[in-house]
Amino acid sequence: MSDLPLDARKMGKGRCPIVAIDGPAASGKGTLCRALAAYYGFDLLDTGLLYRATAAHCADAGLDLEDEETISRYVQNLQHIDTEQANLRTESVGSMASKVSRYPALRTRLLDYQRDFAAHPPAGKGAILDGRDIGTVICPDTPYKIFLTATAEIRAERRFSEMKNAGKTSSYDSILADVQKRDAQDQNREIALMFAASFEEALAPT
Ligand code: DC
Repeated sequence: MSDLPLDARKMGKGRCPIVAIDGPAASGKGTLCRALAAYYGFDLLDTGLLYRATAAHCADAGLDLEDEETISRYVQNLQHIDTEQANLRTESVGSMASKVSRYPALRTRLLDYQRDFAAHPPAGKGAILDGRDIGTVICPDTPYKIFLTATAEIRAERRFSEMKNAGKTSSYDSILADVQKRDAQDQNREIALMFAASFEEALAPT
């Protein structure tokens, strides 16, 4: 990677740089975030994993994910969100996360944790947050925002070759159907809609 200086003067005095990376499922945000985190020595928070872990807790408790009231009450009382649970990265957990992520009480429950991580990253150098609403809702004041996107077909192809390389079998058509279904869920909710904040750079991987 060539030189990518972050101008410390753009952040408030004494504050670490925060890089917000938003975009839809399978757009390559994870790869970009890991590369930037390694390049700058910043701490990385995959906020999707928080939603996945919360959804898994709700499912394990036998709750109906369509029941907003019950889910809202449950997450408000949830003391610890375990992001180390097994199988969080599967498409079925991703889809559950997408379902519950439309509930305002759940988003509020996860808000402070994300903002606190951004303001006080463990290594103290800077934070990179990977999500859907980082540049618009969680850290709207940071000047460092990227919205990474591509067509559903390109994202599905990407995921298909990732899975093939990992020796996992799945058809391109079923991956494309999953990507389109998740886009529809993530884009049609009423809060924290995923969109590029006005002065973000929109990047499309090829
Ligand atoms: O990035 P991901 O696939 O791990 O995210 C899983 C789901 O969680 C995603 O479909 C929508 C939701 N999510 C969200 O609403 N806001 C975020 N900042 C991150 C994820």
